[in-house]
Order: sequence, then C-alpha cells, then structure tokens
Amino acid sequence: SNEKNVLFTIFGGTGDLAQRKLYPSLFRLYRKGNLGEHFAVIGTARRPWSDEHYREVVKETIRALNPSDEEATTFASHFYYQSHDVNDSTHYQTLKELSDRLDGHYQLNGNRVYYLAMAPQFFGTIVSHLKSQNIMTKNGFNRLIIEKPFGSDYQSAFELNQQIREVFPEQDIFRIDHYLGKEMIQNISAIRFANNIFEAQWNNRYIDNIQITFGENLGVEDRGGYYDHSGALKDMVQNHILQVVALLAMEPPVAFSEKEIRTEKIKALKAIRIYNEEEVLENFVRGQYAQGELDGVQFKGYREEDKVDAQSETETFVAGKFTIDNFRWSGVPFYVRTGKRLTEKGTRINIVFKQVPVNVFKTSVDEPCDDTTLPPNVLTIYIQPTEGFSLSLNGKEVGQGFETEPIKLEFRNSAEMVENSPEAYEKLLLDALNGDGTNFSHWEEVAQSWHIVDVIRKAWDQTQPDFPNYKAGSMGPKAAFELLEKDGFEWIWQP
Ligand code: BG6
Repeated sequence: SNEKNVLFTIFGGTGDLAQRKLYPSLFRLYRKGNLGEHFAVIGTARRPWSDEHYREVVKETIRALNPSDEEATTFASHFYYQSHDVNDSTHYQTLKELSDRLDGHYQLNGNRVYYLAMAPQFFGTIVSHLKSQNIMTKNGFNRLIIEKPFGSDYQSAFELNQQIREVFPEQDIFRIDHYLGKEMIQNISAIRFANNIFEAQWNNRYIDNIQITFGENLGVEDRGGYYDHSGALKDMVQNHILQVVALLAMEPPVAFSEKEIRTEKIKALKAIRIYNEEEVLENFVRGQYAQGELDGVQFKGYREEDKVDAQSETETFVAGKFTIDNFRWSGVPFYVRTGKRLTEKGTRINIVFKQVPVNVFKTSVDEPCDDTTLPPNVLTIYIQPTEGFSLSLNGKEVGQGFETEPIKLEFRNSAEMVENSPEAYEKLLLDALNGDGTNFSHWEEVAQSWHIVDVIRKAWDQTQPDFPNYKAGSMGPKAAFELLEKDGFEWIWQP
C-alpha cells in the first residue's frame, strides 16, 4: 500500500504556517490513504497547550475540507502537543520519550520527519540537539524539512548548512521552496521537454527576452516584523524567482530524475552573471509602496504598516535583468519583477520570441516604410491565480485585402481542476515522505542564489533609496518600466 509509517515533529506547531498549510495538507494525505493508522504528529512551540486544545486547533484548520465529525476526530487523535524551549536540553529528553512512545504505539518503524517551521535563528540549535540528545533513530529514516529563509546571505547560509550537515546528509535535507510544488511551475518542464516546437526554439536565436512577474496585491499584512528585515529581494528573488529562472534556463536533463535535473539547474544558476556594483545599479531597481487607492479601497503606505520602521528603507518591490552567460542564452535578458501591493495577484512567465527576419507585409520594393514590426509571438505560462498557457500569434484579418491581426491560443485548467488539485505543500510533504528531493532546493542552488543576490544587496546598501516611490495599487516604480524601455522592450503584462 501507499501508506507511510512516520512520526512528524513540527517545530512551530502553533504557528501560522502549520495551521494554514501543514495540517490541512496532512489531512489531505490522510484522506488519500498516504497516511493511515501508522502516523503521529508532535507539535511543539513554547506556549503550554494540552493535547485536547491542540487537537481542537487541528480540527479547526481542516474545517474547510468538510470532514465528518468522526473523520476529523480520528485524524486529530494522532496529534500530540509538547511545550518546548528549543534552547533547553532537558526539553529534548521529554521530546525523545514522547517520540519513542508514539513510535511503539503507532508502529512507526523509527521513521521520522522533523519539520522546522519557526524563526530561522533557531534552526541550528534544534538540529544540533536532535543529534546530541539522541532523538534520531537508527532503524528508520530521519529527514529534515526546513522552511525559508535559509540564511540571510551566503555566509550565514553557509554556516547554517555546516551545522545541519553535521547531523543530516544532504539527501535527507529538504529545503522548502513552496513554488516548486506549484502545478504550473512543475509544468515548465512539460512545456519545454515534451514539445518539440518549443524546445527547438528555446535559445538566443529565437527568443528575444523572458519576463517573469510575481505580483501580489496584498501588502505585508501582519508580517512586518519579519519582512522589514528581509525585503522583496531576499523574500522572493533569492529563492522563488531564481528557482524559476533555473527551470526555464537549464539544459534538458539526461533523464527526468532528481539527480539529473539538479545537475542542470545548478549549471544554469552558475551561468547567471554575478554583477559588479555598477552593473547592479544599471540592471536592478527597487521600490517601496506609498499609500494609494485601488477599486475605491484606500491602502496605507509601507512605512505606516504595523511593525515597520517609520523611516524604513526596505524594498517591497524589485525589478531586474539577469544575464546568463552561456551558449544558449547569451544576449537574452531575463527580466524579473515582484512586489507587494501591486495592481493584482498574478504570477506569470512571458517568453517573448524574436520577430520574423523580414516583415513581408510591411516592406515595399519602391516606397520607404517605417512600420516594419509585428507584435511578437509570446508564450505565456499562467502560474496563479489561473493556471494555463497562451500563445499569441499573428493571423490575417478577415476580409478583403491583407492586414495582419494578433490572435491568441488559450488554455486554462478549469476552476474545478484547480480546486481539486493537490496543494503545493501536500505534494512536497509526500515527496519528502518518498525521499524525493526533486522539488526542493539543493545546497548548491541555495549557495549560488545567495552569491547572485548578495552583490545586489551590497550595492543597494551603499546608496540611499528614494522611498516611497510607487503607489499602492500600481505596477511599481517608473524605473521598472524604463529598465525594459532602454533595451527596446516593454512588459508584456500590464494589468
Ligand atoms: C512567501 C513570501 O515565500 O511567498 C511571501 O515570504 C509571499 O511574502 C509568498 O507573499 C507568496 O506565495 P504565494 O504562494 O501566495 O504566491
């Protein structure tokens, strides 16, 4: 059967992520039979909760999935709460005793997943204690799932990684990048490697530029405390965006396996140019939202948000151009942008193809002609909120004479399909249970991403930004548009 025997220990068990994503995902796996009688969850955090209270909380988090009373109660009965101070060795003893007891009771065969879903400054301590306090088993698997941020620059990431590697081998470390669990991000590989019409053209001879937009309409919400120390560059570019660039840019893997895909992704990341300070200022722009209005709703500026410094220089928007120095991509800009409080939530990729060599419809043998360009062919991958593809082409306008006209082939997954497809976290949890690291970030990917981003951060830190510089509800600062204009391009998606 597909059923897994496993004990999850969730550090940060009372937290937002656990409640919003992890418990519902575990429940979905339970419903599908990937988890059955032989699983247990220990939730830990500082506050003192009883098992009863914890189980009530868990039940509440799965309410939207409409379980029957019995189903919810049986599921929740597998959850145990342990109040835990991550710096106190004696607490790990209690944790060990509970773990061993549950292992026997549910016949878990020593299989353990430790999930770090709490403030990153505790990651190192927790992992060291798992070993020193003998919590890890000898008979089953011991895997670590670790949430972002993985470090705050290369150096801190390196140190954290050293600490973790003293306890877990690389293949047992699952660094979450939840974008890699998204259906349409996974679909990038299908588009590329299952369709000759695209892969044949997937290079600098046929592609003009690639545009990646990760727009959010939300502001920082209640995460000001974290976000004001992070900013959009570290929150979105270092991880999600660079992972997507790697998937778009990599060479076809020899086989569609973890090892082969990883090899190609790392090579792609290594080919991204590390800018010097001058190049950073030329190729990357930052923004911070001011108050603004959208659809009659007023939004406050970033500096007025809760737990944000009133003089904050943290960016809530980044746009930039990555340059990839290899045979396939030399000369093709990869433009990226992401921001909070933009016009709408929209994550999409536009692959912009080059013009036909000559526009025979506009050239004339005996008259000068200035309008010679056709709209480009664009392949769009819609990641969210809708999921699908479109391809824009040029056709003939119906009727007498000959005028070309842009047309679009469109495909979207149905709302029902999107609704019923597994959540990113559900897929990633099951991957980790299967020991499959394909959709997680390998250390070398993380390291290279930090090298790329560190120089941008450093260059920015030398100069004072002119913040705020875009209105809430807009698509970012003017500089983000100029970035493409100076190369003779424009953002394809302009909501
Ligand atoms: C997270 C960032 O990694 O991704 C958040 O920390 C951001 O700031 C979120 O809002 C976006 O994820 P999604 O799945 O809602 O697009």
